[in-house]
Amino acid sequence: TSSSSSSSSSSPTPSASHFIGKKEDIVKAGRVTKLVNGCRDVLVLYHQGQLHAMDMRCYHSGGALQYGDIEEFNGRLCIVCPWHKYKITLAEGEGLYQAVDDPTAKPLRTHWCSKGVKQRIHKVTEVNGDVYVTLNNSSETIESDVYQTEKYRTVLLKA
Ligand code: FES
Repeated sequence: TSSSSSSSSSSPTPSASHFIGKKEDIVKAGRVTKLVNGCRDVLVLYHQGQLHAMDMRCYHSGGALQYGDIEEFNGRLCIVCPWHKYKITLAEGEGLYQAVDDPTAKPLRTHWCSKGVKQRIHKVTEVNGDVYVTLNNSSETIESDVYQTEKYRTVLLKA
């Protein structure tokens, strides 16, 4: 679906990327939320030298991930939803949980498991100090999609 306009072909950023802000501002703030392309609320965060982007509302019940702590579980960086403490990997959007090895054994031993990708992760790029997000438009349904509607946007604004 190419545009018929005569825009430059040497643009440094692909047309599907959306400006979020200056990197220095995002680094300073740590987190930024933005309505991208008029249709998607995205959380962009900076942690340990890396930028990450994901759907802003938690796949579980729409929790405000911008207020979550970032912690490492099983060697993977996760955002912990402030509502019910679900853990979501920053890199893939996987839901992680601790499973009990054997419920009859004492003491109980647990190990980390993945529920698979639950939160939609978006691509972040940086060009000359400007940060852009390219929405992940994969057609597979991801659970966090449910909270990307006008209804939840309004609820959030009123909250
Ligand atoms: Fe995020 Fe429940 S809404 S853990």
